[in-house]
Amino acid sequence: MPWDPALYNKFKKERFAPFVDLQKLINVKDGLKVIDLGCGTGELSRMLADSLPDSQLLGIDSSDEMLLESKNYEGSNVNFRKQKIEDAILEDASWDLVFSYSALQWVDHHRVLIPKLIQRVSKGGQLVMQMPSNHEHFTHVTIKELANTYPYNIALDGWARDTPVLSIEEYTTMLYDGGGQSITVFEKIYPHVLEDANALADWTSGTALVPYLERLPKEMHDAFIEKYKEGLKRQYNMSPVFYPFNRILMAATF
Ligand SMILES: C[S@@+](CC[C@H](N)C(=O)[O-])C[C@H]1O[C@@H](n2cnc3c(N)ncnc32)[C@H](O)[C@@H]1O
Repeated sequence: MPWDPALYNKFKKERFAPFVDLQKLINVKDGLKVIDLGCGTGELSRMLADSLPDSQLLGIDSSDEMLLESKNYEGSNVNFRKQKIEDAILEDASWDLVFSYSALQWVDHHRVLIPKLIQRVSKGGQLVMQMPSNHEHFTHVTIKELANTYPYNIALDGWARDTPVLSIEEYTTMLYDGGGQSITVFEKIYPHVLEDANALADWTSGTALVPYLERLPKEMHDAFIEKYKEGLKRQYNMSPVFYPFNRILMAATF
């Protein structure tokens, strides 16, 4: 199953909540050249560009489905391109603002990734990013456990996704080692109240389940999701369900 903008947008209010916190970390200047890594539908890219006077923004994403939506947010100062983050950061280009929102958790090897991101920041420019850090939450741990059971372990050939997300101490040190100044790094819990365990499952179906469903044969999808929902219902047999969602927010000037 590829990325599904409709499913992703189901919790748009909750997913967009940290954007306001992240925006506050941006040094607003006229005419910034901005890249948004993992721009998804482009809705936030448009909001970002509109908040930066005379900026030029390029949003890149690897998903055709998400980029299809981005047509709605294109304009003379906002463009989108299909590209992997891993490829974009190898290009010899520099940006006044390297921005990423809820996407870098999908890219492996952050000890390699972060220095490469820093290289793409122009002199005096900024790296500003947010990524979820809730991989220890029951919703995520349960997916890995389920993937390790028969028949999914066979179908997945033993694969399960390990998070590449590091501690905030490590990110802070990498930003400093890369020459960062005015470094701000913090982890914040966004408290969400969802209707029930099914709503929790819908939330993760739009994100954390995606790489598992991409790898499992289609005929196994329904049973995998059903088993996952059963596990969540056992744990969260209540309504509403409280979902404390950890996220890391960072900014540094170079
Ligand atoms: C959780 S969504 C966030 C989208 C957008 N930034 C937002 O907040 O609305 C994550 C996005 O990262 C994209 N993505 C994941 N891995 C990627 C990669 N290696 N290169 C480019 N995009 C990637 C997905 O296609 C998806 O659109």
